[in-house]
Amino acid sequence: MQGKPRFGIDAPTLVLGFAIGGPLLVVLGCTANRILPPALTGTMIATGAIMAAEAILMTLSSLYGKRILLRRMVDSLALRGDEQALDVGCGRGMLLLETAGHLPRGRTTGLDLWSTRDQSGNAAEATARNAELAGLRERVQIDTGDMRQLPYADASFDVIVSSLAIHNLPTETDREQAVREIARVLKPGGRLALLDFRHTAHYAQTLREAGLDVQRSWPLFLMFPWVWIVRGSKARP
Ligand SMILES: C[S@@+](CC[C@H](N)C(=O)[O-])C[C@H]1O[C@@H](n2cnc3c(N)ncnc32)[C@H](O)[C@@H]1O
Repeated sequence: MQGKPRFGIDAPTLVLGFAIGGPLLVVLGCTANRILPPALTGTMIATGAIMAAEAILMTLSSLYGKRILLRRMVDSLALRGDEQALDVGCGRGMLLLETAGHLPRGRTTGLDLWSTRDQSGNAAEATARNAELAGLRERVQIDTGDMRQLPYADASFDVIVSSLAIHNLPTETDREQAVREIARVLKPGGRLALLDFRHTAHYAQTLREAGLDVQRSWPLFLMFPWVWIVRGSKARP
């Protein structure tokens, strides 16, 4: 198999909407200034320009900013190389493969339910193909499942990571359930790092209630929207 892994674009419908709608609004605002009040055409032009800029920033974020931050996030875990790791909501595998690259004697499991609304071209086959292209297929297990009910026994993983996944759950109760599931399947002595662009204070709170020692980063501006990382560790009994 030849080629480079491709990880898709996050929230593709929104990005496409901004990429088409933004320039359209700017053109409409510019051409309608003889028939519409200047305040309205000015608002159309400004809104269109912001939407177009957001489409560009979100695309750059999916392709470049996220990769840099995820690499730093996995580096900061200082893995030994033989851990069992889980990537929750792995999508096409950018974080999954970054983690697997650090675990030559371990195993990295990616779990997802493959929503193409959340990531373009999202599918278990696409992730498997990326793992193959990265030369990491042997180290990676790809599972289909819902993060609100992780299909793993208690204390299964030394390390759990996640990127831009938990916020996709529709309610606070769902997100709390997923974070509690993450705490459940983490081994005593295990560590986690969860990156997301909203609700991270709530993830940190839920993890503290589950007994973990937790820190939340400052906002990180290499991605758009900017993100936070919640890091935690579970004490040994
Ligand atoms: C924006 S994508 C991010 C994918 C990947 N973590 C990354 O950063 O490239 C969000 C992912 O969360 C997954 N997801 C959404 N709801 C989920 C759920 N209930 N259980 C498992 N995965 C879910 C989506 O299918 C999608 O792959």
